[in-house]
Amino acid sequence: MDMKQRIADLAGDMLRAAFPEAQGLPEDLAALLEVPPDPAMGDYAFPCFKLSKALRMGPPMIAQKLAATLEKPEIARVECVGGYLNFFFNRENFARELLAAILAAPEKWGSSEDGKGKTACVEYSSINIAKRFHLGHLSTTVIGNSLKRIYDFQGWKTVSINYLGDWGTQFGKMLCAYKKWGDREQVEKGGVDEMTKLYVRFNDEAKADPSLEEEGRAWFKKIEDGDPEALEIFQWFKDVTLRDAMKVYGLLDVKFDSYDGESVMAQKTGRVIRELEEKGLLKDSDGAKIVDLEAYGMPPCLILKSDGATLYHTRDIAAAIYRKETYHFNKSLYIVAYQQDLHFRQLFKVLELMGYDWARDECEHVSFGMVSYEGQAMATRTGHVVLLDELLTRAWEKALEIIKEKSPGLENKEEVARQVGVGAVVYATLQNNRIKDIDFWWDRALNFDGETGPYVQYTFARCCSVLRKAPDNTAAPDYAALTDDESQALLRLLSRFPEAVAEAAQRNEPYLVTRATTEIAKAYNKFYYEHRILDDDAGATAARLQLTDACRQVIKTGLYLIGLSAPERM
Ligand code: ARG
Repeated sequence: MDMKQRIADLAGDMLRAAFPEAQGLPEDLAALLEVPPDPAMGDYAFPCFKLSKALRMGPPMIAQKLAATLEKPEIARVECVGGYLNFFFNRENFARELLAAILAAPEKWGSSEDGKGKTACVEYSSINIAKRFHLGHLSTTVIGNSLKRIYDFQGWKTVSINYLGDWGTQFGKMLCAYKKWGDREQVEKGGVDEMTKLYVRFNDEAKADPSLEEEGRAWFKKIEDGDPEALEIFQWFKDVTLRDAMKVYGLLDVKFDSYDGESVMAQKTGRVIRELEEKGLLKDSDGAKIVDLEAYGMPPCLILKSDGATLYHTRDIAAAIYRKETYHFNKSLYIVAYQQDLHFRQLFKVLELMGYDWARDECEHVSFGMVSYEGQAMATRTGHVVLLDELLTRAWEKALEIIKEKSPGLENKEEVARQVGVGAVVYATLQNNRIKDIDFWWDRALNFDGETGPYVQYTFARCCSVLRKAPDNTAAPDYAALTDDESQALLRLLSRFPEAVAEAAQRNEPYLVTRATTEIAKAYNKFYYEHRILDDDAGATAARLQLTDACRQVIKTGLYLIGLSAPERM
């Protein structure tokens, strides 16, 4: 039930009744409707200013004329204020119809078919092999996971891609170091940390003995040429890195359809170079090959080094084409920090110059700001690296302490603490628009009362608890019990939830869902404090229970869409 559209239709009927002869009126009246700043001014306002020219009449007069034609009082009453015609829903009717619409298919409220028949590639996380998963990778993982879920919910077919950073000369050095000083068991046990140690040692020793560099290059060449021993070790390095990453993905409940990374795309760069050459786009530059982008105000895009090695851009060009030809996407999203903004502008421009118009129309760099931790920037330079698995484990422990204190009788405390702790971190990441920098503070994220993940989860659990206590009530709901301001505020937010989800997909902004869900949680709590839900009037109780049930479901959906679990007891 789309109230906005119904009011727009009603406004259309009124327009036709009041001005049967009128020409040149706007088609999409829903687009004109505004939400008044104060609900006391109505649920929707129809501004008459844009009609003034076509109707040759002042806006206040138009509003008066329209108001005089109102014939469907079961939907709304109207008031004229200046050039606005303000619509007030018929409250009882609104409650009845909205709850019927939500409860007919509760888990679908907010879904749509907007993306039907269309495919979206969503690339996120994209971690680097032999490097630890740090807080810097949190945003891409969490935003990407949420966007994938939101697109799915909007009817798209999605392909989630973890574009592994698993190609480059540093892997030759690492292999070389491993062969010289490494120990299989130690790497198995120490994982990425052990690989990093090997790499650091290599660089230290190479300062004294430059011939090592040559050996490192030779090992990379072995990887490139498919030498079985080199490949075996390299693959094992990858497995060990991914094994650690999987723990984090498990905690976050994040999944991928593809792990095709840079090493896979490196094999597909031959064709890219041929194409660039044929299309006359490649230029020599000190022995290297580049695409000149000066005309577009950008530095050149490096395609081949003088030794013939491919670059980050080369592999990304191959990857973009591969995704188009494999998945036939209608949209291809790259969830990557804003520091790589230039990289993506260059990438899309080169693809466009190659004749791939889809790069301009369908590819999008979904960028985001920096994450800092308790006021400190995340930088390896200063040695202040917050590792994601440690952060999530800390969150879990802290949540457990709080839960033990708040709900000593709770059965599955450990599991709930995991959901709440991890949820607090995820929520904090998706609380504001993407580009805004995030400063993460424990006290803020884990507060059960602020705008936080635990607060929304707690509200969900509260709805579940109310419903558990409900009597086996067979009375018919009396919707007149939902005509007060708190119930109506809540109903209005529920009715606008689908718009928030659709807009989140259009703008690639999960925080719109976070905000809509949080607003619903706040409005529910207000309603909960102001009204006795399990009232003695059976009809009122039945209506309030329906409202609680609708909230429970919509909050659950909202939490799911931003990647949070919804524990039924907390
Ligand atoms: N692995 C890179 C990093 O961690 C991010 C990859 C971004 N995606 C891309 N298609 N270039 O910085």
